[in-house]
Amino acid sequence: MPHTCVLIPGDGIGPEVTSAARAVIEASGAPVEWVEGIAGASALEQGHADVLPEATVELVRTHGLALKGPCTTPVGGGYSSVNVALRKTLDLYGAVRPVRSLDGVPTRFEGVDVVVVRENTEGLYAGIENEITKGVVTSLKVATEVACERIARFAFEFARDRGRSKVTVFHKANIMKLSDGMFIRSAQAVRPEFPEIEYDERIIDAGCMRLVQDPTDFDIILCENLYGDVISDLAAGLVGGLGVTPGANYGARNAVFEAVHGSAPDIAGAGLANPLAILMSGVMMLNHLHRHHGDETCGAAATRIRDAYDRALVEGQTTRDLGGSLSTAEFTDAVIARMGT
Ligand code: NAI
Repeated sequence: MPHTCVLIPGDGIGPEVTSAARAVIEASGAPVEWVEGIAGASALEQGHADVLPEATVELVRTHGLALKGPCTTPVGGGYSSVNVALRKTLDLYGAVRPVRSLDGVPTRFEGVDVVVVRENTEGLYAGIENEITKGVVTSLKVATEVACERIARFAFEFARDRGRSKVTVFHKANIMKLSDGMFIRSAQAVRPEFPEIEYDERIIDAGCMRLVQDPTDFDIILCENLYGDVISDLAAGLVGGLGVTPGANYGARNAVFEAVHGSAPDIAGAGLANPLAILMSGVMMLNHLHRHHGDETCGAAATRIRDAYDRALVEGQTTRDLGGSLSTAEFTDAVIARMGT
């Protein structure tokens, strides 16, 4: 039985990179069928009243699975983030963003293999902002015990299930004693359930210093929402940038896979975007289908795709962001050509 996946192209470079990922996944022989969901600026362009049409949310609820391209969020005004809204509406509380060194992508560090686990539903991204009086605004940081414990357990379970050894919480509980205090206390409360996993805490500023000094010191980094957003881009920079950093957003019933990067308006439509991050997110999706739905064909397809893009990189087949000269389409073809199907 094929799995139905909602493909949300998004906007900016989204349509280019999602169609590339789709082409590779199709060429891999993975039993995936696609239904298209629309979101972002393209939803408005196509006459929808909302950037996140209810029909799209309903499609993800129905099929439980989506591969999503980035959606632009206007800065300092305009509509709220589609990406944040989708995560909150579907209660996709756990973001997983693996960051690993790739052969063929030279960077300052070798052997980086870090996973950022980000709480996705609250913190400052609760979106509660008020103008108290002219010239005075507040943004409310929300932390609930339920969400803090849930993401801590998620991080430890992820570590245990993937054979990882350590969870490090990045926090600022010395200043935000209540909200970040609750975040670390929740992790401390969950920790005894996982005695085999080492546990560490870092105040985030010193943690960032350490992360750029020696990323191999970290395994899983557990963060609240805003810190997770920032740390995952920082970590991406350690292994070659946003073109090589995938992501997944998990809830109890649904999973939405998307790259860490945004809509990259500076290169949108130029055929220059690296589709690897969204393709790697697609590989995470296939592995999820293997792990949670027992579909070995999907696991095999994931391995085939991963081997193919690893080979392409080693053979110097890279897009501009990685120092190469291939277009989105040329890199996509290079991966498909190495799949041996
Ligand atoms: P961005 O991630 O879109 O771009 C940052 C830089 O990285 C740009 O120079 C861009 O060209 C480059 N880049 C990103 N992805 C790339 C790729 N696949 N291949 C080659 N180069 C790539 O971040 P920025 O510029 O801060 O945000 C642009 C828009 O994207 C904003 O509206 C932002 O809100 C939105 N955004 C959406 C996200 C999502 O949909 N999940 C996540 C992050 C940002």
